Amino acid sequence: MADRYAVIGNPVAHSKSPWIHTEFARQTRQDIEYARIEAPLDGFARTVDAFRGGGGRGANVTLPFKEQAFLYCRDALTERARAAGVVNTLIFERHGAGDEIRGDNTDGVGLLRDITVNLGRAIEGRRVLLMGAGGAAQGVLGPLLGAGPQRLVIANRTAGKARSLAQRFGAAAGGGYGELGGAQFDLLINATSAGLADEAPLLPPGAFAPGALGYDMVYGRDTPFLAMTRAAGAEARDGGGMLVEQAAESFLLWRGMRPDTAPVLAALRQR
Ligand code: ATR
Repeated sequence: MADRYAVIGNPVAHSKSPWIHTEFARQTRQDIEYARIEAPLDGFARTVDAFRGGGGRGANVTLPFKEQAFLYCRDALTERARAAGVVNTLIFERHGAGDEIRGDNTDGVGLLRDITVNLGRAIEGRRVLLMGAGGAAQGVLGPLLGAGPQRLVIANRTAGKARSLAQRFGAAAGGGYGELGGAQFDLLINATSAGLADEAPLLPPGAFAPGALGYDMVYGRDTPFLAMTRAAGAEARDGGGMLVEQAAESFLLWRGMRPDTAPVLAALRQR
């Protein structure tokens, strides 16, 4: 019987994860089934318990449950999940003595791999702006700082949230968009959900350094931030590569092998 995995979220109908993991399984000849599970907003833990009880081997967790997933596996978190405070990958293992549930976060490493490997851009020594201070921003902040930027600034509509996040993680600065002044950045990462409402963060004009990359973590739509990036003459990229790379990292945790992401990303873009 195939090993069972799922993505748990609400809403989850639009999730590309089942398709991506099915492609990975085909490529690596792994016998897995990967489903979509919509958990009630007040029933995340219950839903995970039921999936696990029914033989589930692991799950990806998406909006709005990444913080609840962190609490769900409070006792067995990887270092990067603990630092992020949010979990996107659950691993269920069966031992003679009982079940173990581990929580990890593969979003940060997925973003890093997309930027540095797929897009061939350095983070080390560069000026980085991270927009947003919610779960998505938190999940990638530690790995971004670990990549050695010259300076990492966090900007958010609610300035106080950016300030406390910057303090907690030791970023160079955090505040509102208006506080950026004339600062220029080589890498501008949009981790806000503004694009989902067809809006863009209120960046001051001139925030894009010559040759900059504007990266929107949202996938599947041409967001106003990407349009703003192109208008500034910078390279614009959406979150498709991050989506496939974080999935590959989850697949590695579950199956012990890393799939080749390039053909899957190319096929995703054709769909
Ligand atoms: P996620 O888990 O996707 O990060 P979240 O925790 O709800 O979701 O955070 C959403 C982020 O997008 C926040 O940083 C939010 O800014 P506020 O903290 O000021 O709410 C940001 N955001 C949402 N809509 C936005 C908009 N129209 N313009 C700028 N920022 C926006």
